[in-house]
Amino acid sequence: MNICIVGTGYVGLVTGTIFAHKGHNVICIDKEEDKVNMLKEGRMPIYEPGLDKLVEENVRAGRLNFSTDIEAGVTSSQIIFIAVGTPPSEDGRADLSYIEQVARQVARHMNEYKIIVEKSTVPVQTGEKVKTTIEMNVRSKIEFDVVSNPEFLKEGSAIEDALHPDRIVIGVSSERARKVMEDLYKDFNAPIITTDVKSAEIIKHAANSFLALKISYINAVANVCELAGANVMEVAEGMGLDKRIGRNFLNAGLGYGGSCFPKDIDAFARISEELGYDFPILKEVQQINYDQRKMFVKKIEQELWIVKRKTIGVLGLAFKPNTDDMREAPAIYIINELQKRGANIKAYDPEAMDNAKQILDKVEYCQDPYSVAKGVDCLVIATEWEEFKLLDLKRIKKEMNQPNIIDGRNIFDPAKMIELGFNYRSIGR
Ligand code: UGA
Repeated sequence: MNICIVGTGYVGLVTGTIFAHKGHNVICIDKEEDKVNMLKEGRMPIYEPGLDKLVEENVRAGRLNFSTDIEAGVTSSQIIFIAVGTPPSEDGRADLSYIEQVARQVARHMNEYKIIVEKSTVPVQTGEKVKTTIEMNVRSKIEFDVVSNPEFLKEGSAIEDALHPDRIVIGVSSERARKVMEDLYKDFNAPIITTDVKSAEIIKHAANSFLALKISYINAVANVCELAGANVMEVAEGMGLDKRIGRNFLNAGLGYGGSCFPKDIDAFARISEELGYDFPILKEVQQINYDQRKMFVKKIEQELWIVKRKTIGVLGLAFKPNTDDMREAPAIYIINELQKRGANIKAYDPEAMDNAKQILDKVEYCQDPYSVAKGVDCLVIATEWEEFKLLDLKRIKKEMNQPNIIDGRNIFDPAKMIELGFNYRSIGR
């Protein structure tokens, strides 16, 4: 099939590459010329394991192209995926202006029957608005269908998630579009759920909110564990073996960050409110998530007593491992708060330091964890990168001024840390 993807962010770029990998002809459109040129030269705008190789293979095979020319993309393709950003606006609602712009442009260049697919995360009823926008802007009477096909990939394992999804959700309002979409996904070897457009839109918001709820729930349980002298990791294990609950997304820590959960929960709460249902649990989920960071800073203060003029090393800056993404990363809040209290900050992240430099001021960035440890009064683990789990902790201790480790991701065994002579605090244990 000929496919056009508008927007080369995380979702657009990965989706386009995956379809090309499956043998389709894909043209990825972005209005940013620099980005398109970069992609044409084989350079990736994001760090995502395996993506560069897959892009290169498919560009070389002639199945994957990048362009700024939306007209060429629309006229040559049967299916057009809208994968542009839906950032949060001031009041928590999703800003849908990019979606609207693309819908208008697509309408103007439509030359025959097209399927326009919402791939970006959007609030329920956006499909209807896209449909009306296209109807108002299409030049002649051309048939089209609007489909909702939400994406569930995670940063850091995006290729694997997109190639082997747990399920594929297709929200359609016509038989014609259903057939084409089911055909597109037929060799993905995943269950396909076909719904109406609105239900598909809600599936995405409800799924992300539920995962965030799981995280906030276990963080709240972690706080009880800490007060009671229990161990949240054992509690999560015991809960997670119940198949109805499941162990995934029960890792207590610094709470969720990233470009999806914080924004999507706000947007879901807002659209629910607009529709007439106050959704208080969503507000509680966000509050617990915020408090988790606040309590972590307090924990550092408790251990250091005086934070002013102390040097604190932060290991991990990205919002999660295997990405360079700093959006809503807990490390930002933690570093800002410690700096407000007069601390000097040293930091290291395997991939996110370039992005961190755009956001965080007055941080001494180091080449590796051992350089971070040199002369610090406390080490903070903010992201659970695999390489931190393999650190030579004896060497780390020798480098430190005082052996305080405050672990926001529970990557070390408390008994072992005490044996090594650290003053070690973690979450919910
Ligand atoms: C999330 C969803 O998991 C994807 O299914 C969805 O497609 C995506 O949002 C999106 O809407 O685009 P992502 O934000 O890439 O994916 O990352 P996650 O792996 O879900 O992690 C989100 C945050 O939750 C991270 O900060 C992570 O550290 C935190 N987390 C996750 C926990 O604190 N505990 C856990 O047990 C799991």
